[in-house]
Amino acid sequence: MTFAQGWHPVALSTSVEPGSSAGTHIDGKEYVVWRDNSGVVHVWEDRCPHRGMKLSFGFVRGDHIACLYHGWQYDTGGRCRYIPAHPDLEVPTTITVPVFTTIEAVGMIWTNAEPEASRLSPPMGTSETVPVRSLYVNSSADSLLDALRANLPSAFTGQGEPSLVPAGDNLWRIATGDDRLIVGLQRLGDDRASLHIVIEGPGSIYGGAGQAHFLGWTAKVRYALEHGQAAAQVARAEAV
Ligand code: FES
Repeated sequence: MTFAQGWHPVALSTSVEPGSSAGTHIDGKEYVVWRDNSGVVHVWEDRCPHRGMKLSFGFVRGDHIACLYHGWQYDTGGRCRYIPAHPDLEVPTTITVPVFTTIEAVGMIWTNAEPEASRLSPPMGTSETVPVRSLYVNSSADSLLDALRANLPSAFTGQGEPSLVPAGDNLWRIATGDDRLIVGLQRLGDDRASLHIVIEGPGSIYGGAGQAHFLGWTAKVRYALEHGQAAAQVARAEAV
């Protein structure tokens, strides 16, 4: 699935605080994720139209983001509203940054490049989630999914075999014992991917020890992936 199709998770909601910005990738292209001071999150192309500086290096000022280089300021619609070197200039409406439909659901930030994205079904959320982590790895998204399938977590509460089922665009659900997790897959590039992982349920049950339980499991996924890659490299080297 390319960025031109469907919903893509780009971060855990808790990792982008009001007044902050961060750079990310989808399919090798650069995007800025930023949250304005009223709490609304935005995903844009990470390139200032003036001289190409990354907007993720910029500063959030209320409901504007300002470029680090020459201070041009953009409103939440991506339109340039202020140029410090020409403070009295009425900025041409053509100076804009490409912006993408962005929502928050299931404790994650999701974006969609389709112009009619609002008519699509976004990933459905539950009332409460507890963040586990974003796991970034140097491998393809398919290899990461294979490692996930082969290393599902044990339960924190209850008992029962774990299972993994697809639940939407780049979205999976894990059931293990009485626990339910939600996993968003971000395809950063050909050889880089990320899992954004949350627990469905209240912080009163899963905060602290529950988070630590599943955090430990993500380390096992990473180990299995890296160990598998090393084994594959040895096998390839021996085959030459
Ligand atoms: S490059 Fe962004 S304001 Fe000049």
